[in-house]
Order: sequence, then C-alpha cells, then structure tokens
Amino acid sequence: MKVLIVTAHPRQDSFTQALAERFAQGIAAAGHEAEIANLYHEGFNPVVSIQEMDDWNAQHISPTIQAEQARLQSRDGLVLAYPVWWGTPPAMLTGWMQRVFTLGFAFAHNGGRTEGRLKIPAQLLVNVGSKQREDIDLATLYLEPILGVLRYCGMDTHPTQANWGIYANTDPATLGAVLDEAFENGKRFFA
Ligand SMILES: Cc1cc2nc3c(=O)[nH]c(=O)nc-3n(C[C@H](O)[C@H](O)[C@H](O)COP(=O)(O)O)c2cc1C
Repeated sequence: MKVLIVTAHPRQDSFTQALAERFAQGIAAAGHEAEIANLYHEGFNPVVSIQEMDDWNAQHISPTIQAEQARLQSRDGLVLAYPVWWGTPPAMLTGWMQRVFTLGFAFAHNGGRTEGRLKIPAQLLVNVGSKQREDIDLATLYLEPILGVLRYCGMDTHPTQANWGIYANTDPATLGAVLDEAFENGKRFFA
C-alpha cells in the first residue's frame, strides 16, 4: 500500500518535514510505501483563479490539477502535515485542497445527496504553537474544519496527531517523543 504525505512548511528543514519523514519511516517499517510531497518545494500555486472557477463549471480540469489528482488517486492513503497558522493550515495547503478536491473527483452529487469519492484513510500531523487550554477547545476549533473536508470527500480519518506547544526550537527530548509518536502512527496507518 502507498500513502501520500503532503507537507506545507516553507522551511525545508522544518520540524513539520521531520515529522513527515519519521511517519514515512513508520510506514516503511510496516512494509508499505510513502511519498512526501512538500508543496513549497514543488512550487505548487495555491491560488484559485477566475479561469479555474469557470473551468470547474465546465468540468474542465487543468493539466496541473489532473496530475495532482492522478497522484492522489494512485495512493491508498493521505496524510497532511502542517503547522497551525491563525487557526488554519498555511494557505499553501488550504489552496491545494481547494484546487485538488474538485467536484467529480473528490465528491459527486447523487440524487440530491453528496457522496465522497476518495474512500481512503487519512490522518493529520499538526504542530500547534499554543498549549491546550481549559477555557477553549482549540482542537475542535483548529482541526475539525480540515477533518470535515476530508470526511466530506469520503476519507476515513484516523485520530489526529496534534503536537501542542511545539516549535522547531522546542527542547530535543520533547521533539524526540513527538517524532517517535509519528513513527508509531506511521506503523499503524494501514493496520
Ligand atoms: C503566521 C503564523 C500564525 C500562527 N498562528 C497560530 C495560531 O493560530 N495558533 C497557534 O497555536 N499557533 C500559531 N502559530 C505558531 C505555529 O503553530 C508554530 O509556529 C508551529 O508549532 C510550527 O513551528 P515551527 O514553525 O517552528 O516549525 C502561528 C505561527 C505563524 C508563523
């Protein structure tokens, strides 16, 4: 089985990238394959243009997005690894979802109902600057909108690995424990 791990952090040496790599090692340890797609490194353009919106209505998908969709379709699972920026993933990743999860590919209308078409497991690996708080449910606020998109498109979401109070310069022991957790999650992903 093959998983696509999409990462979105502008630094190639970010902790987000390290997390994705450790998760990929867990996937390999379980006898599966992982491809890491770093959207910044690949130069993905996350902006939806007016032309593209017109094309959606005509069910015309650009070659760039067709290639993204073919890559996702040839995988058996999807992982999104990112830092939380103002409560959301970086624009790079939300733009990727907006452009790639098109009508007819990721979901379809069927007799007045919407049907998700990407029936694969999915998981979020998220670094959050804040620590969890008692007065506000940050997990619901930050994660549910993204999990909702994945579920709408038919994906079966695994419990999120949300790393609270984490920055690239957090103490090495804490970062090591978080990386070990990512490795274990990778091992379990297709179990
Ligand atoms: C533009 C920006 C917005 C951020 N917004 C939030 C936020 O809304 N909530 C939060 O907990 N942390 C926020 N953070 C902190 C990041 O989640 C933190 O940088 C993350 O853990 C990744 O760390 P790293 O960039 O050192 O790898 C923000 C950081 C940036 C750069």
